[in-house]
Amino acid sequence: MPRTEANRGDRPLQDSPSRSYAEKLERFSRFIEPELKQIFADIPLPSTGVIMDVGCGTGLATALLAEQVPEDVYVCGLDLSFPHLRSARLLHALPLIQADMQRPCIRDASVDVIWCCNSVNHAANAETVLRALKRCLRNDGRIVLAQSGFLAEMFFAWDAHLDDALRSACHQYYRERYGLSREATAGVRSLIGALDRAGFDRIESRTYVIERTQPLTAVDRAYFQHAIYEGLWGERIHRYLDADLKRRLRACCEPGSGEYWLDRSDFHHIQTLTVCQARVPPAP
Ligand SMILES: C[S@@+](CC[C@H](N)C(=O)[O-])C[C@H]1O[C@@H](n2cnc3c(N)ncnc32)[C@H](O)[C@@H]1O
Repeated sequence: MPRTEANRGDRPLQDSPSRSYAEKLERFSRFIEPELKQIFADIPLPSTGVIMDVGCGTGLATALLAEQVPEDVYVCGLDLSFPHLRSARLLHALPLIQADMQRPCIRDASVDVIWCCNSVNHAANAETVLRALKRCLRNDGRIVLAQSGFLAEMFFAWDAHLDDALRSACHQYYRERYGLSREATAGVRSLIGALDRAGFDRIESRTYVIERTQPLTAVDRAYFQHAIYEGLWGERIHRYLDADLKRRLRACCEPGSGEYWLDRSDFHHIQTLTVCQARVPPAP
């Protein structure tokens, strides 16, 4: 296959300047907005200087970061995808940079804090990205990496087997779609190791639990039905499920079914967002 922007070896998930999954990103960031606000209240943010949201997607986190700091702080977003940046531009007027995080066009030692959520896993080698981002940070600067899904999610509290089967079907689908090995997809779990090898110090980690029960908000319902049922599972994973599991999935998730998941009083969802912070060693 000829090598194109879309299948570069260093972008295993086929990200490119024209690729868009903006709708999915918008739904996810709206869904985790309460937890993002909590995280930004918990992490130390500067009162002057520069904050950069790397892999900013459709921009909600960039806007929430800007709300947390004085106006003098220069908050900007960086992303590879023009369509994602166009969506971000509709949301806020903060500076946006189109660039590849593996070789960011940012002056060395010019940034105080980097926030990077669910994005380093889009590069073939997290350590290479972290070394590139470390060059952008000032001495003693801080990187904050957030990554979903280090622990198994719960969607169907009443059907553990369906949860397990869907998780394994999704992993199989993604491995096949992107031609990835089991090791390549699991590599992101070692964020602490990657930060350490890239030369960061004072590494800390905290896992936030994103948990929803009834009553679900309209934002929650849209995320579960459209981003998860239709977008993540959809028809494409059906070939990894047997007939009984397909029937159980439809019975839960098709609106109008007697047991519709989002109307069940015992609905209980749990997923995690792990936040690893680290610092550039101070100058000797
Ligand atoms: C899963 S999304 C996360 C977006 C956002 N941080 C969020 O949490 O909603 C990954 C983002 O990284 C961007 N991305 C992927 N590869 C990239 C690269 N090499 N350089 C810059 N951005 C990249 C994608 O365009 C996408 O917006």
